[in-house]
Amino acid sequence: MTLQQLRQMKQQGRTITVLTAWDYAIARLIDAAGVDLILIGDSLAMVALGHRTTLPITLDEMIHHAKAVCRGVERSLLVCDLPFMSYQESIQQALHTAGRVLKETNVQAVKLEGGHPAAVETVAHLVQAGIPVMAHIGLTPQSVHRLGYRQQGKTPEAAERLVQEAIALEAAGAFSIVLEHIPADLALQITQKLTIPTIGIGAGPYCDGQVLVTADLLGLSERQPPFSKRYADLQGIVTQAIQTYCTEVKEGKFPL
Ligand code: KIV
Repeated sequence: MTLQQLRQMKQQGRTITVLTAWDYAIARLIDAAGVDLILIGDSLAMVALGHRTTLPITLDEMIHHAKAVCRGVERSLLVCDLPFMSYQESIQQALHTAGRVLKETNVQAVKLEGGHPAAVETVAHLVQAGIPVMAHIGLTPQSVHRLGYRQQGKTPEAAERLVQEAIALEAAGAFSIVLEHIPADLALQITQKLTIPTIGIGAGPYCDGQVLVTADLLGLSERQPPFSKRYADLQGIVTQAIQTYCTEVKEGKFPL
């Protein structure tokens, strides 16, 4: 899967599937299932490392997980999140961080949060340096202490601001944009205005693609957002398997 193919999918009206991954085992399964794009999202700070927010994860930790994910992927497009405060200080810091991610892993692109002028300028500089960038606006979890986990873009002014941010990010060269937790009609408006694919999460059905945090989809996360969907209860299946193993060992039924 290439960036060009992703853009063609929007042009052809084919819906894009995106899931997050945090290690080799889960990446192999997601890739083999035919998901178009795999995101090494900084949500792994919460679902794989047990942090309460995405803020504590470091660049070295993201690169460590991205390397593992890349080893499991043959087909999907790979994008890695830039973690909190690894790109906000300066353009130089963002170039250094994104450069490290592309040099040290096999991902094809990076993702960063925000649509304010400084974020747009950062996207433009990364793209000029040859680094493909996926943007992310609406609810941006790295700003949790300012925004909370509330839906964004609810007032006409806030909605218009998000439309303008999306247009500016496309003009800066972003190849795609994640729209998180915004009203469905606003996501539709943005999707219709942009030529790059929009990927929604909690943004209704009218985006060019959808993304979920895989731990939520599989029923592995402790808490999940209201807009997520649990397609399996792996927590239940794993617990049952472990309890059965313990019982069989204690009762001498395993090993035979
Ligand atoms: O970190 C993440 O998993 C994300 C998705 C929610 C888009 O950014």
